[in-house]
Amino acid sequence: MRKTRMRWVAGVAAGVMVGAIGLVATRVMGEPSVPPSGLVSTTREVPFGLEDPAGYIPAENPQTATKIELGRWLFFDKRLSKNNSIACATCHMPGLAFSDGQSVSTGINRLQGGRSAPTAINRVYSKAQFWDGRAETLEDQSIGPFVSPVEHGFIDHDELLTKLKTIEGYRRLFREVFGREVTIGDVGRAIASFQRTLLSGNSPVDRFDMGGDEQALSPQAQRGLELFRGKARCTRCHSGFNFSDEKFHNLGIGWDTNTVDLGRYMVTKNPDDIGAFKTPTLREISRTAPYMHDGRFASLEEVVRFYNQGGIKNPHLDNTLIPLELTEEEQQDLVALLRSLNGEGWQQVTAPVEFPK
Ligand code: HEC
Ligand code: HEC
Repeated sequence: MRKTRMRWVAGVAAGVMVGAIGLVATRVMGEPSVPPSGLVSTTREVPFGLEDPAGYIPAENPQTATKIELGRWLFFDKRLSKNNSIACATCHMPGLAFSDGQSVSTGINRLQGGRSAPTAINRVYSKAQFWDGRAETLEDQSIGPFVSPVEHGFIDHDELLTKLKTIEGYRRLFREVFGREVTIGDVGRAIASFQRTLLSGNSPVDRFDMGGDEQALSPQAQRGLELFRGKARCTRCHSGFNFSDEKFHNLGIGWDTNTVDLGRYMVTKNPDDIGAFKTPTLREISRTAPYMHDGRFASLEEVVRFYNQGGIKNPHLDNTLIPLELTEEEQQDLVALLRSLNGEGWQQVTAPVEFPK
């Protein structure tokens, strides 16, 4: 009894000393600090062809420059994982239009999940997030990965918060942005606000289609656009300015290889949703290979061939999918169209060089 107490006292004393030394040292090395803000004005121009994101910002989480900057630090900071090895940006890399180039992602301790990392661009326009739409808001989405055993690896959100609170620079920032101590809700708000600045628009397709610039698309891609909207039936699901109906469909991915992922069904328990996944945006698509929720297709040619065959037969196949009978040349035209969906509105975001201390 006595012995434990002694050790406890010694522990406190040591802690105080380390603290004191730490303080002296930081005078020289730099105080607990917040690096100078790197970017963002909240009033950047909206890339051509996109709706104004302002109309999609939830009233309870308005965009502010300091909140977005806080979100950027949190998104790129590897200290926000159990062993300092993983950040959101590990799997959503700026150089790959915020995807990771892998069939399935590799997280903490080289563990792999079962799905491919989608791009984080144009998330402002969606309600349901993730392939199965299990997060109803981007704020919810933004705190999920921290407690995934194959991503950031924390046991629970409290463990993350305890770690975050040891970084005085973050405590100061959260107080400045939200007027209170760090909470998990505010971590989600800040990261969501940052993610809402990742846009992609003003692609050749936008300039051709909405801007009337005849030169913006090659004749081949122009034929592809016509097919996309007509014979190939793509716009039945990849509709609207963000090329998604925001709905869930079963294309049969996994039913051929006995690796069925029940997808949306696990969220709704509605048999109509068995094997259904969210229609992804097609913006930046040639930068975000490989494709589909299991990352099975390395190239857009393979994707188009898959659709041309009418998807993969299974009892729940979406009845929009039928064999398309596209010629070899028409398939190439579609690929040319898909390659014309790269744009701008995310390239300004780079990894911070300094983080809050
Ligand atoms: C280990 C890799 C990995 C890490 C780390 C990671 N993600 Fe992801 N992310 C994925 C995968 C894989 C999915 C798809 C999972 C699913 O849909 O079930 C995904 C899905 C998403 C989506 C949904 C996109 C959509 O179209 O619905 C967003 C947004 C996102 N992640 C942002 C983040 C943020 C923010 C963080 C950090 C808090 C993060 N990710 C950390 C791999 C990762
Ligand atoms: C019935 C709705 C539907 C139709 C029609 C459809 N898609 Fe899709 N598309 C989806 C869904 C859902 C996914 C994700 C499926 C999955 O991973 O299980 C997807 C995935 C994709 C992907 C991969 C995206 C990524 O980020 O991995 C590409 C590329 C694509 N579709 C292009 C097309 C083209 C081109 C057409 C027309 C030939 C088309 N789609 C027709 C619903 C549809």
